[in-house]
Amino acid sequence: MKVLIPTLSLAAVAPAASDACTTLSTSISADANVYRANSTEYTLAIEHWLLSSIEEPQCVVEPSNAADIGAILKTVSATRTPFAVKGGGHTSNNGFSSTTGFHISLAQFNYTKLDTEAQTVAVGAGTKWISVYTALNGTRFNMVRGRNPAVGVSGFTLGGGKHLKTNAHGLAIDNLLKVNIVLPNGTATTASATQNADLFFALKGGFNNFGIVTEFTFRAVPQDLVWGGHLSYDPADTAAVNAAIVAFEQTNTDPRAALVGGITALPTGPNGTFSAPTQAVQLFYDGPVLPEGMFADFFAIPTASNNWAGPITFLAWSGTDGGVSSLSRGVFHAFSTLPHTPEFLEDVVDEVSAFSAELGPNSAVYLSVAIEPFMAGSLNRTSSATSDSSAYPPVRNPVLLPSNIFFGYLDAAQDTTFHAPIAQIQANIVTKAAARGLIYPEAQGGSIYSNYALAGEDGAHVLDFYGAEHLREMRRVREEVDPRGVMRLAGVWKV
Ligand SMILES: Cc1cc2nc3c(=O)[nH]c(=O)nc-3n(C[C@H](O)[C@H](O)[C@H](O)COP(=O)(O)OP(=O)(O)OC[C@H]3O[C@@H](n4cnc5c(N)ncnc54)[C@H](O)[C@@H]3O)c2cc1C
Ligand SMILES: *[C@@H]1O[C@H](CO)[C@@H](O)[C@H](O)[C@H]1NC(C)=O
Ligand SMILES: *[C@@H]1O[C@H](CO)[C@@H](O)[C@H](O)[C@H]1NC(C)=O
Ligand SMILES: *[C@@H]1O[C@H](CO)[C@@H](O)[C@H](O)[C@H]1NC(C)=O
Ligand SMILES: *[C@@H]1O[C@H](CO)[C@@H](O)[C@H](O)[C@H]1NC(C)=O
Ligand SMILES: *[C@@H]1O[C@H](CO)[C@@H](O)[C@H](O)[C@H]1NC(C)=O
Ligand SMILES: *[C@@H]1O[C@H](CO)[C@@H](O)[C@H](O)[C@H]1NC(C)=O
Repeated sequence: MKVLIPTLSLAAVAPAASDACTTLSTSISADANVYRANSTEYTLAIEHWLLSSIEEPQCVVEPSNAADIGAILKTVSATRTPFAVKGGGHTSNNGFSSTTGFHISLAQFNYTKLDTEAQTVAVGAGTKWISVYTALNGTRFNMVRGRNPAVGVSGFTLGGGKHLKTNAHGLAIDNLLKVNIVLPNGTATTASATQNADLFFALKGGFNNFGIVTEFTFRAVPQDLVWGGHLSYDPADTAAVNAAIVAFEQTNTDPRAALVGGITALPTGPNGTFSAPTQAVQLFYDGPVLPEGMFADFFAIPTASNNWAGPITFLAWSGTDGGVSSLSRGVFHAFSTLPHTPEFLEDVVDEVSAFSAELGPNSAVYLSVAIEPFMAGSLNRTSSATSDSSAYPPVRNPVLLPSNIFFGYLDAAQDTTFHAPIAQIQANIVTKAAARGLIYPEAQGGSIYSNYALAGEDGAHVLDFYGAEHLREMRRVREEVDPRGVMRLAGVWKV
């Protein structure tokens, strides 16, 4: 073997892992690929929704089938190389689907297969929701999915998965029938309610603790035309919109109706000054005929922008989700509460306002807290969803309402600056929620939603997601399927 070319920068190449990339390329099938730094494929494979979630791996490996993934995991195990597996790359936590070791790209696991007879949908683990909607458009079937069409099916589902169809159909995992998975020792298997049932339980909320999922099979849910849109309001009307959200939570009994609110402060000028927080809502009605008076309170308040439309296809609706720019850096955090009160939503407005004043000069471009009211009973809607059917959530009744806190900023030099403040605003909001009796005492940490939570010393702890009883069972399964701790070489909430 040839020795180093003297002019080669040693700093750019870590010899041990680089050799492992070469070893890796000899152990995978002809259709699999290994990509080196700066190639187009490499750059595409490590892309994330937030620039701050990107790391530069030694190489990208793109398996073509489950046997390739098995071979990769065996190499990882033998060389103890840190690695990452990326679904849609929407995590806000650095090191969860990024790595400086091997980056596993699931680009070849990118498909949606509807079985109209069985009414199931099989989705490859590298698929983003937008591809699923496009494939299902016009079929009269759909699935429980997220609000942003670019989110990956994998991470969304392995964390629980909730959105506007949750009122009628529960979590994504409540509609999951089967997964194909490659275990940490390289063996491909399936998990379902009848096969490897304990592994199936643990995977539903357990992310990459137990192996690499290659395919999800979901129950398909019926889909007709829908109504929906995104309505924003002036800061002067924030309290009125908050009151309308609470009134909707308290009075709506139609599981086809749903909404997400967002208390948001945006920059108003170049000097880091922010608007007073506004409340915006994304409204959704899952049917072609809008019931009389539905969402009337929201239409009665003058809007700053409004793209409400219907009846339209679900695919067209998904385009009404404004989302936010994918060109910023950012951090997420989370809390969950019992049903909101107007006073509590005003507490949240006050906190967003205070933190926008503090963080404006640090290149902040977006500070928001999402308000996601799900209906009582939505987490026991499907017969397969019981308190012990999935690792997440620890409590299904009452339904704890998740909130996502998002601080977006531009300056890479600020990557560490935003952790402490987002942990602080989360703590402040939880304290205020507790003072108003909105924290459910039986759920540890208020049952924080892992798909939104901040990792690291300031962040959440795995106990907050699963509760002690579910966590104990997850650990038992982990010891069984991963005695060598292979999956601990990949980041994420380690049980
Ligand atoms: C704009 C936006 C909107 C969102 N809206 C919603 C929403 O409406 N509802 C909701 O519930 N959540 C929502 N989320 C949160 C989202 O569900 C999580 O960020 C989710 O983890 C993203 O999945 P991903 O595959 O895109 O992420 P990735 O970053 O690719 O993966 C997340 C984690 O899952 C692991 N993982 C990925 N693929 C596999 C696999 N095949 N096998 C094993 N482990 C794997 C990764 O290693 C990583 O640790 C939103 C996020 C964003 C950024
Ligand atoms: C990749 O490109 C960047 C910027 O152009 C450069 O700094 C880096 O050294 C390159 N890495 C390799 C391994 O070629
Ligand atoms: C997955 O397939 C869709 C088309 O169905 C394509 O637009 C997308 O780029 C593909 N994603 C990857 C990661 O290859
Ligand atoms: C979606 O399906 C509808 C028919 O239900 C069709 O009219 C429309 O053109 C489709 N949209 C796309 C983008 O294919
Ligand atoms: C920004 O701040 C500088 C210095 O304080 C000031 O001179 C300038 O007028 C401000 N610009 C705006 C648009 O507020
Ligand atoms: C399901 O939820 C509803 C509403 O919270 C509750 O009344 C009912 O008892 C729950 N059923 C079970 C089996 O937990
Ligand atoms: C891999 O792990 C599984 C689960 O522990 C076990 O059933 C299987 O026998 C193992 N396979 C090999 C080849 O060791």
